[in-house]
Parts: sequence; C-alpha cells; structure tokens
Amino acid sequence: MQNDSPTANIAEPKNWSPDSWKEFPVKQLPQYPDQNALDEAYRELSELPPLITSWEVRALKKKLADIAAGKGFLLQGGDCAETFADCKSPKIVNLLKVLLQMSFIMIHEMGIPVTRVGRIAGQYAKPRSRDYEIVDGEKIPNYRGDLINSIAPVRDERIADPGRLIEGYHKSALTLNFLRALSDEGFADLHHPEYWELDFMKQNSYYQEYEAMVNSILKAVSFMETIAPNQFDTVQKVNIYTSHEGLNLYYDSAQTRQVPRRKGWYNLSGHMVWLGNRTRDIDGAHVEYLRGIVNPIGIKIGPDYDIKETINLIEKLNPIHEAGKIVLITRFGVDQVEAGLPPLIKRLKKEGMPVVWSCDPMHGNTFATDKNIKTRNFDDILGEIRKTFAIHRSEGSYLGGIHLELTGDNVTECVGGARGLHEGELHHNYKTYCDPRLNYQQSLELAFMIAKEWNESYGA
Ligand code: PEP
Ligand code: CO
Repeated sequence: MQNDSPTANIAEPKNWSPDSWKEFPVKQLPQYPDQNALDEAYRELSELPPLITSWEVRALKKKLADIAAGKGFLLQGGDCAETFADCKSPKIVNLLKVLLQMSFIMIHEMGIPVTRVGRIAGQYAKPRSRDYEIVDGEKIPNYRGDLINSIAPVRDERIADPGRLIEGYHKSALTLNFLRALSDEGFADLHHPEYWELDFMKQNSYYQEYEAMVNSILKAVSFMETIAPNQFDTVQKVNIYTSHEGLNLYYDSAQTRQVPRRKGWYNLSGHMVWLGNRTRDIDGAHVEYLRGIVNPIGIKIGPDYDIKETINLIEKLNPIHEAGKIVLITRFGVDQVEAGLPPLIKRLKKEGMPVVWSCDPMHGNTFATDKNIKTRNFDDILGEIRKTFAIHRSEGSYLGGIHLELTGDNVTECVGGARGLHEGELHHNYKTYCDPRLNYQQSLELAFMIAKEWNESYGA
C-alpha cells in the first residue's frame, strides 16, 4: 500500500545533494563556456518560485501506483521538443484538446481512470547522436534544444547559453499557467460533441468496428453535457501533469527543493522526469541526480539494454521498491520488441520490482525517406503497440501506459493513418524541430486502437 502521509517512508539517498551529479561523468550536456554566467543563471533559477507542488507530485505517484497494480492507464504525450517560439495559445490549446479527447476515448472504452501526463512545460532539451554538424562546409555544434542553444545554423547561436535556462523556466511557467486556467474553467472542446472531429475515421479500414465506438462516445458526451453538465466536471475532472526528459541537469537541479514538513527532495520543475535511452549509464551524472528525488521517474529502454544493468539501475533509483516510482518506457521498434521485451518482463517479475510498464512506439520506428525526411509509419507504431500488448498478455503482466510524440496540430510528419498520408505529402506541413509527431487525426485514431488492444488483453 502506498502511504501518502507527510512522514511516509521514502528512500533517503546517502551522500547526495541536488548538485552531487557534478562530480560524475555527464553525457549529452555541452560545456558552457561562460562559467560566471552559468553560475549566475543557476543561482537565479534556484530562487524562482516552483512551477509545481510537492503534493501534486505525490498525487501523481499514487495514481501511478494504482496503474502498476492494473487499475488505470497512463497517457503520456506531446512534442519531441517544445520550442520557445511555439509557446502560444493555439498550440497549447490544441495539445490539451487532443490529449483530453484521447483520454476520454480511453476512459469510455476501457472503463478505467486515465492519467494524463504531457511532454510539456519543460521539454526543451534534446540528446543528439552527433555533437557537431556540417553547415556550408563549416563544422558547428549541433542544436540541443531551446534550453541550451538556438536552432539557427550559425556557430555563435549554437554556443550553450545559460540565459536559456531562465527563458525555459519562464516559457514553462507561461505554458503551465495557461494549462491550469483552461483546466480550471472546464474545457469547452471536450464537452461539445460538435468539436470532436471524428469524420475522418470513416476512411479507416476498421471503421465498421469503430463506428459503434465513435457514435457511443459522441452520445455520451452529448448526454453528459445536456443532462448532467456538473457531473461531467466531477467525473472527468480535467487534470494534466507535466513531464520532460531530465537531461539538462542544471535546469533540473536548480529547481530541486525541500519543502516544509515533508521528507526528501522534489524536482519542482515538472511532475515526472524521465531518463533518456542515451543517458542511463548507472555511474553517470543523470542517474546520480535522479536517485535523489522523490518524483516518479521514467526510464527509456531501447534494444541495446543490458538486463543486469537495468535491474541495478531500477534498484538504484527505487531501492525501497515503492510502487508508482518507476515507469519503464520500452522503445524497441516493431522489429525488435519480440526479442527485447519478454526477458525483461520475466526478470522484473522474478525480482519482484513493481513498475508501470509503458510503451513508446515512436523512438524505435524512425526512418528517413529517399528524400532524407525523418518520419515514422503509423503501421509500425501500431504494430509495436499490438506486439507489446500481446507480449504482456502472454507473460501475464500489465501494460499500463503509452508514451507518444504527438501534437494537436495538423502537421504532416508521420506517414499512414486513416487519411493515408504518404511520403510525397510530408513537406506540406512538416514543422518539428526534432522527431516526427502524430497529428490530431492520427492521435485520435491511435487512441481508439489502443483502447481496442487493451480490451482484448484486459477487458472484462
Ligand atoms: C525522446 O523521448 O524524445 C527521446 C530522445 O527518446 P529516447 O531517449 O528513448 O531515444
Ligand atoms: Co523524440
């Protein structure tokens, strides 16, 4: 049982402080050439008010503990990389809309609570495969996300700039402020069936199967809105948590605080942080930082994982085996999931480690077209989801979450889906700074398919 009292038993890490990571080898974080400016930005950031609260962190952890026990589902999604320039009303509204609609489809179809976690309000730092790129014959540092440098392909703009830590904080605060306001006042787009754009589903080859689902959702929304609008608010209280990759450790550690009458250290820049697939070295700085915080932690696991090291890593991040602490986000790719996932499930079961199993069907399925455009195929994404459900089902374990890169906008970045977007159309509205995202329609379509797969595995 999860104890949520202020004195709850939480792991108290030995020889740890928010900046003890500085003594460890750090990957994916460039040198800041101006140390004084970095120290100044760090000091300023560490004194600014927190973006979120410790009780929200604990509430999320409790929901994740329920999910680990098979009583709920985690929907985590948003941009691959947020940008400062996109901190704008329509972008935020559209993302909230698509996440809420997806969650509503799931709640309605699966009959369990869905916890929404956005890759939002802080998802500004990116790991890169190469430190440099060649632009017009010149070798310049790679873009690492707006929290670190600028995407402009000019040497000076690519130097790590500590001022961006502060700007990232401000942009996150503005985003979160708007999200909270939209949620508090109730979000009209969710309640009114006329704002649900589901007609495109008619082009889906599975439409016959979905027709009943679509109609019953529209009926439910309309019923709630006309008959019991207040009940709608309480039953489906709009509520969204924030998350980002814990990558730029200056940003995260400066916002890591103790709070009155509670044990432990909280990262108050976002409710959940995750450890990227490229920075999960057990002796590295990122793991050192993450082992000290109370927040739930996601761990990305790709095909190159070592089973023993992964067990040690989970043990290090969750020594008291607290349920709701670790979300294991597998991202093997449609061709490798059958080899990679079963041994991990078996081993964790044997070790008795409680985790929320989540599937990221995006990062193992990226490829470049003949014209060198980075994309993903809807069928591969769905394929990995289906295989992941089937594997968990046959191993007797519970797949409790999905981790997606998506946007509420009408972008053309991933191919396939009901509308049948093809490679030749990718350039129409290709906007991402980093990885290709599902658009509004592809996201809703996937929500139906996830609900269907979940029901086949765990439905009554
Ligand atoms: C990401 O989630 O954007 C990402 C970089 O993922 P991964 O660490 O799994 O490659
Ligand atoms: Co990505």
